[in-house]
Amino acid sequence: MNYNKKTVKDIDVAGKKVLLRCDFNVPQAKDGSGAITDDKRIRAALPTIQYLLDQGAAVIACSHLGKPEANFEKWVKKQTEKGKDPATLTEEKWKKSLDALRMEPVAARLSELLGKPVILADDVVGPDAQAKAAALQPGQIMLLQNTRFEKGETKNDPATAKAMADLAGEGGVYVSDAFGAVHRAHASTAGVADYLPAVSGFLIQKELEVIGGALANPKRPLVAILGGAKVSSKIGVINNLLEIADTVIIGGGMSYTFSAAQGGQVGDSLLEADWEDYANDMVKKAAEKGVRLLLPVDTVAADAFSADANSQVVKAGEIPAGWQGLDIGPATVELYCKAVANAGTVIWNGPMGVFEFEKFAVGTKAVAEALSKTDAITIIGGGDSAAAVQQLGYADKMTHISTGGGASLEFMEGKELPGVACLLDA
Ligand code: 3PG
Repeated sequence: MNYNKKTVKDIDVAGKKVLLRCDFNVPQAKDGSGAITDDKRIRAALPTIQYLLDQGAAVIACSHLGKPEANFEKWVKKQTEKGKDPATLTEEKWKKSLDALRMEPVAARLSELLGKPVILADDVVGPDAQAKAAALQPGQIMLLQNTRFEKGETKNDPATAKAMADLAGEGGVYVSDAFGAVHRAHASTAGVADYLPAVSGFLIQKELEVIGGALANPKRPLVAILGGAKVSSKIGVINNLLEIADTVIIGGGMSYTFSAAQGGQVGDSLLEADWEDYANDMVKKAAEKGVRLLLPVDTVAADAFSADANSQVVKAGEIPAGWQGLDIGPATVELYCKAVANAGTVIWNGPMGVFEFEKFAVGTKAVAEALSKTDAITIIGGGDSAAAVQQLGYADKMTHISTGGGASLEFMEGKELPGVACLLDA
C-alpha cells in the first residue's frame, strides 16, 4: 500500500467547505450522562481543525460514535440474539439507544477545546445538516450527527457518500483525520472520496509516517512485542511481523497457547486449543526466516482471576492444575528487557499480563520502562497497549502512541486500509 498521501498542506482550502472525517468515537460514562471520560481523540484532531480554520475553510466535521443500529428491524434482531425478549423491544427503546449516542457531548467538548462555537446539526445529511452546511462561513465549524445514524454509512452506500460530499458543495474538499476508523470502508471514511478531492489531516499523516515507516523501512534491529489475551485476534500481526522483524517477543494470555502447543502444562490459563497448530507454524516460520522468537521462560501464576489472588512464580509450561498465568515472570522480564535495550525500532501491541490488576502489572510495567529507556523508535499500537502505557505513566516517553485500535492492528497486519487507500497519492 502507498502511504505517501496528499495532506491538507498540498491543497488550497481557503474559502472552501471542507468535509472533515474525525474519529470522535470517545469513551463515555456508563451512567447515561454522556460525559466523555477520555477526550484524547478530540484533542488529537485539533491541529488539523485549527489549521483548516486558520486557512479560512468552513469545516463540516463528522464522526461515528459507538455502534448505533440505524435500522429498527436489525436492532431488534441483534438485541434478540443477545437474549432480550422481543416483546420488550419497542421503537421507543430503539430511539433511546440512538439518543445515547448523539454528538452533543462531543460538540460541547470540541467547542471548549477550540474556544469557539461548534454548530451542531440535528441529522447527518438531512435538511438540518444541509441548511447549516449551506450557511457555514469561512472560519466556522459545524459537526454532523453520528454518521452511523445513516443506514447507508456502514454499507458504504454511494448515495449516502454523495449526500455527505454534497454538503461541502462545488469546490469542496474531503479531509480525513480519522485514523482510528481507516480500517472501515464506510461512506464517511472511504466512499465520500469518490466525490471530492481527498487528502489526509495531520494525525493520519503522522500515523502513516511513523507506523508505515517502521513497517516499510525500520531502523534495525526491529523488535516486535506482541501480547494480549488471544492468539486468534493477533494471527495477522504475528504472521506479518515475522516477515519484517528481527526479533518477535510473545507475552500475555496468548503465550499460553504457544506453551500448550509445545507440550507445556498451562493449568487454568487462557488457552485457545484451536490455535495450537497455528502457534507451532509460527515457531517454524520464525526458524525458517531466521527471526529470533522469544517466548516466556517463566510465569506468575495465580490461584484465581482476581486482583488479590495468591500467586507464585513457576517455569513456563509447568503451571499446576488450578492455577493460571496472569503475568510474565521475572526471568522473562529480564530476557525481554534485554532484547529491547539495543533495538533500533520497537513495535509494541498487547500487554504482557493482566495489567489492570496491580499485582499482575509487573511484566507490562517493566517492558514499558525498558521502552522508555531505549534510544529506539518506540511505537505503541492503540487499544490495550496504549491504555497500559498511559495508565502506568510512560506515555510521554514513547515516540508514538497510535490513536487507532483496530486500525493500528490492521496496519501492522499489512492490510490495505480503505480510509487511506482512497486518499490522493502525493
Ligand atoms: C475505534 O474505536 O477503534 C474506532 O473508532 C473504530 O470503531 P469501530 O470498531 O466501531 O468501527
